[in-house]
Amino acid sequence: QTADSLYIINQYAQKYFAEQLWENEMGQAVAYSYLQQRGFTDETMRKFGLGYCLNERDAFTKDALHNQYNKELLLKTGLVSQRDYGLQDNYRDRIIFPIHNHIGKIIGFGARLIKNRDNAPKYINTPENELYVKSKILYGIYFARQAIEKRDECLLVEGYTDVISLNQAGVENVVASGGTSLTPDQLRLIKRYTKHLTILYDGDAAGIKAALRGLDLALAEGLYVRLVLLPNGEDPDSYVQKVGKDEFNEYINNNKKDFILFQTELALKEAGNDSQKRSEVVNRIAESISKIDKAEDFSRQQDYIRQSASLLKVDEEGLINLVNKYIREKL
Ligand code: UTP
Ligand code: MN
Ligand code: MN
Ligand code: MN
Ligand code: MN
Repeated sequence: QTADSLYIINQYAQKYFAEQLWENEMGQAVAYSYLQQRGFTDETMRKFGLGYCLNERDAFTKDALHNQYNKELLLKTGLVSQRDYGLQDNYRDRIIFPIHNHIGKIIGFGARLIKNRDNAPKYINTPENELYVKSKILYGIYFARQAIEKRDECLLVEGYTDVISLNQAGVENVVASGGTSLTPDQLRLIKRYTKHLTILYDGDAAGIKAALRGLDLALAEGLYVRLVLLPNGEDPDSYVQKVGKDEFNEYINNNKKDFILFQTELALKEAGNDSQKRSEVVNRIAESISKIDKAEDFSRQQDYIRQSASLLKVDEEGLINLVNKYIREKL
């Protein structure tokens, strides 16, 4: 009941904000020109239903109330908030990114500042409500699902604009996690369409960390995970806008690394010659390998054991025993 009403409000709000982007003078001068500068075409802006919230106290609120939308529900959407003097618009002077579920219904919004402001977050997202359950959301899934099935691979990026730029470049099998590590629900949603997950995170330390956190979960879900680190300082959006579609695809294909092997190399580099640390690495990798369900994928597990043993310079027998120990602990 509440959910149905929220869908209706969200749909109305998306239309309203898109109208401000396309029809309003300020929307054109401020938001449209910003998006154009970022390299987005009209077609792309329309496909993703982008919009703009005017830099006014309550322009949206007024229109919504005038159209008889319920105040409590409006508050639930996070689009408006309650102040002493009344309701006000929450996403003032921000670009609006509607977030669709896998069947194309709008479950919430991301809102990006146009000009960086002190102590204002770059993005604000819908608060948790009946529709917007953060742990289940994959931005872009509606536009990606056919391409994911067709290519039997899902690309995972951090942000809204990464999804949008890649789509514009013809790479459509892409979804975003919102920068946080993946949850089991998100992984299960991906698994409906493919078992092949390729993570494209920013090539900075935070990006690598966020990517690694999702690994064991993804393995436990039976996904085949590969990782691409982008050149330092780039994210998929900036990189594809810089080098174009062909060079981007070439880079992805040349730099895809199997996740367990990537993790092994990275951990070994960090451990250096410290023997205590190196044995910790061996343990951690064994634990990751143990997450691959043996019955379902025995030969795959054997492959990992062989390759990791060689990278770690330990004998296979020992690594097998360690992996088995972790499997037993799991039971
Ligand atoms: P980034 O900081 O990498 O932003 O955060 P971005 O996606 O590259 O955006 P642009 O290119 O600067 O416009 C990655 C993602 O993390 C979430 C958003 O989903 C964002 O797309 N995020 C980031 C937030 O939710 N809040 C923030 O304040 C920042
Ligand atoms: Mn397959
Ligand atoms: Mn980042
Ligand atoms: Mn980014
Ligand atoms: Mn970016």
